[in-house]
Amino acid sequence: MKLVNRVTVVTGSGSGIGRSCAIEFAKAGAEVIVAEINPQDAKETVRQIKTNNGKAVAFKTDVSDPASVKNLVEFTIKKFSRIDVLINNAAIQINKTVEEITIEEWNLQMSINVGGIFLCSKHFLPFLRQSKGNIVNMSSVNGFFVETMCAGYCTTKAAIIGLTKAMAIDHGNEGIRVNCICPGYIDTPMSEGYFQSKPDPSKAREEADKLHALWRIGKPEEVGRVAVFLASDDASFMTGASVVVDGGFGSGLPPK
Ligand SMILES: NC(=O)c1ccc[n+]([C@@H]2O[C@H](COP(=O)([O-])OP(=O)(O)OC[C@H]3O[C@@H](n4cnc5c(N)ncnc54)[C@H](O)[C@@H]3O)[C@@H](O)[C@H]2O)c1
Repeated sequence: MKLVNRVTVVTGSGSGIGRSCAIEFAKAGAEVIVAEINPQDAKETVRQIKTNNGKAVAFKTDVSDPASVKNLVEFTIKKFSRIDVLINNAAIQINKTVEEITIEEWNLQMSINVGGIFLCSKHFLPFLRQSKGNIVNMSSVNGFFVETMCAGYCTTKAAIIGLTKAMAIDHGNEGIRVNCICPGYIDTPMSEGYFQSKPDPSKAREEADKLHALWRIGKPEEVGRVAVFLASDDASFMTGASVVVDGGFGSGLPPK
């Protein structure tokens, strides 16, 4: 129980990695706010947490919308009077090349994946300063190693690594830590969407397994548990870090 009563906002926690973060934080004793654009999925995350006697509440949030983020901050502070941890996880992945993607799709992806981190961090920072809290951003190995058919997505994930370091040095002297996690392929609706965008989705999935030294893609909880560590006092001397959780994706070339 590393995070007892720590008030934690997890964006995009109605699915996949975000839901697992919410569940793992609740297991560690945190009070979790499930900040998610899809209310039904948020409700399901809260239900799963409460079934295991955890503490969670849902709040409908669009991280790309300044008014919605301000409402989330107001709700959090009114209800809990503080925030200790912000997990900036919400993102979308549009599987297109620069030539194929429309300007509207490009801007939407940027405004959720990068703009959402900007807005949530901007408006929660005054309260994180009071609690000497911390931020965990969800980047990707695609911030280092890019792949075909997702140029805009890879751009956002590289930007998050830079933004994490920038916030870490701007706010370190205030006792605020800012880190990011770079997962390899994780079994979620997002990665399934990527496989489905390929001509042979099941072959694409098999090939993805072998991109990882462990010859399998990861499970969402394998990322959630690292997020708990980073947010806890066990990581008290970690800031500005890009923590790779990738089953060895970045270790070398895949087998032929
Ligand atoms: N799955 C992977 O293989 C993988 C690998 C590396 C990094 N990541 C990153 O992990 C994070 C979670 O990905 P996932 O695979 O769980 O995806 P997912 O699609 O399963 O979940 C994303 C969640 O974000 C929510 N969301 C989307 N737009 C939102 C908005 N504007 N405001 C609030 N919520 C919004 C969705 O409704 C959904 O619940 C993302 O940042 C993603 O880039 C995923």
